[in-house]
Amino acid sequence: MISDRKLEHLLICKNYDVEFKDKTTGFEDIELIHNALPEVDKNEIDLSTSVFGKKLDSPLFITAITGGHPAAKEINEQLAIVSEENNIALGVGSQRAACEHPELEDTYSVVRENAPDCLLIGNIGAPQLHLANKAVEILDADILAIHLNPLQESIQPEGDLDARGYLESISEITDIVDIPVMAKETGCGISAETAKQLVDAGVSFIDIEGAGGTSWAAVETYRSEDRYLGELFWDWGIPTAVSTAEVASAVEVPIISSGGIRNGLEAAKAIALGADSVGMALPFLKKSVSQDELNQFIHYFNDSLRIAMFLVGANTIEELKQSRLVISGKTKQWLDERGINTKNYSRR
Ligand code: FNR
Repeated sequence: MISDRKLEHLLICKNYDVEFKDKTTGFEDIELIHNALPEVDKNEIDLSTSVFGKKLDSPLFITAITGGHPAAKEINEQLAIVSEENNIALGVGSQRAACEHPELEDTYSVVRENAPDCLLIGNIGAPQLHLANKAVEILDADILAIHLNPLQESIQPEGDLDARGYLESISEITDIVDIPVMAKETGCGISAETAKQLVDAGVSFIDIEGAGGTSWAAVETYRSEDRYLGELFWDWGIPTAVSTAEVASAVEVPIISSGGIRNGLEAAKAIALGADSVGMALPFLKKSVSQDELNQFIHYFNDSLRIAMFLVGANTIEELKQSRLVISGKTKQWLDERGINTKNYSRR
């Protein structure tokens, strides 16, 4: 049953090591160029950003985590309260369970109740065209995310392995809902080519969710009797820094960089690479034990982002986007091979 699976995911992610083992996000290959004369007042730095007409106090998104199990209700309530307090955007986990089992609806509706003014993002799978409007209604969502998770489906014992027709279904979802539709991966990243296909299908927002953070092969390995396949594909995917640069080079729609981002310094690098915002899931699940922990984590994130902006002389997120950076190592190798000129970043 889906609801039991949701609880297992929460418990595994909270209690086991579910992050990539050897592959990293690639942000260690990115250096913003220090400005010894920033000519900026750090206290005046503006982290605000606007997403589809809604002004947010920080470019930080809490990306899809949960819902669909009574235990998830409390987590969603905590996340909603801090999102409202800090005026940041919040995504919920897959809403399929609640669309099919009305008794689970309150595990999602609790979010809008506690975050009346927040930018909220609903969540369904690509084939779930028939659930799209219901998902929007249950959450009172501002944006609907469609999750892409072929790796998880491959390793999960009950996985859906026929991915034919997903692009068509995504295109139809963008036609039938009257809010913007986002496509999001779940930890393997999105390539330039896939980003173009998604935008051609009508998607108006991409959350890249690259490799280097939570590995869904890892999560499903802990649920499988046979660990062989999960172990083999544990580190599969496009590193987050690479996927961010690929998607930014390919499409004009706003981009969230995510998957293994853990602080404001990495966020600054992601934004200078071309992202408009950044997202995190696992750290918010782990901090959801108390409001204080969540608030402190957001405070550290915002302050580390502000320091990085101060050190490159950026007053606003738009100025940070224009900051120069140097790309080295494996990340440069990857981008070179893919025809993305890294000098466009270092000599802006
Ligand atoms: C997730 N994630 C996720 N994504 C999604 O689109 N629908 C979902 O239902 C879930 N469920 C979920 C549960 C839990 C417990 C976690 C930790 C994550 C994936 C999430 O949004 C994100 O793409 C990845 O976790 C990678 O980001 P982090 O965790 O490395 O910051």
